[in-house]
Amino acid sequence: MGSIAPQFNNPATTTLFELVKARRTYYGLKAESPIADDAIEAIVRDSVLHVPSSFNTQTSRVVLLLKEEHQKVWDIAIQAMEGLVAAGHVPKDMFENHTKPKLNAFRAAYGTVLFFVDYDTLAGIKEKFAIYADKFDPFALESNAMSQYLVWTALESEGLGANLQHYSPLIDEGIQKQWNLPASWKLDAQLVFGAPAGEPGEKEFAPIEDRFKVFGK
Ligand SMILES: Cc1cc2nc3c(=O)[nH]c(=O)nc-3n(C[C@H](O)[C@H](O)[C@H](O)COP(=O)(O)O)c2cc1C
Repeated sequence: MGSIAPQFNNPATTTLFELVKARRTYYGLKAESPIADDAIEAIVRDSVLHVPSSFNTQTSRVVLLLKEEHQKVWDIAIQAMEGLVAAGHVPKDMFENHTKPKLNAFRAAYGTVLFFVDYDTLAGIKEKFAIYADKFDPFALESNAMSQYLVWTALESEGLGANLQHYSPLIDEGIQKQWNLPASWKLDAQLVFGAPAGEPGEKEFAPIEDRFKVFGK
């Protein structure tokens, strides 16, 4: 928005930014996919493989769940929320009227990508580069976020819709047990995806002039 049509050397750059602009949050999703599971798997695998990390520490861990396996994530979330309701931490009517329908809408999608960070693997490098020790955990999360964004954009490029969720720590234990994942994998985000059942909502943009400056042009 508000940009001048630029001259790029490589037409793929224009295509890349078309995909960047087209990526949105889709909440209405169906349990269908316009592409084969192998194509989804390639998107996720190549994102994990090629997204950079600080000092090439490769701290991201990712699990792709499709169909019934995907539904289990949201069954775990519903069960965990029911536990909070039973314990009196969440009002029952809020759960029934708001939270449960939302979780069931995620469950009605086609797949979920779980994004984790393995912070334990950073112990050695924190010792080696003590001056950066407190930076490695945030760097690992930043690298993880890059994978999330790439997978999100690539899935939407292929005709899927997606939304990004954060139900940690509520679902951590259930997820780890269900798929027997290493305890050192710390869950960060859940990317829910499926064939879009509707359009994304309106999106407002704060003035870019307040958010971006250029010098020396
Ligand atoms: C780091 C990050 C965390 C987010 N967490 C959530 C979330 O927990 N639940 C949710 O529904 N949307 C979440 N979103 C989606 C944002 O609300 C959404 O991307 C933003 O409103 C812009 O809309 P768009 O994705 O359609 O461009 C998150 C997005 C980002 C980048």
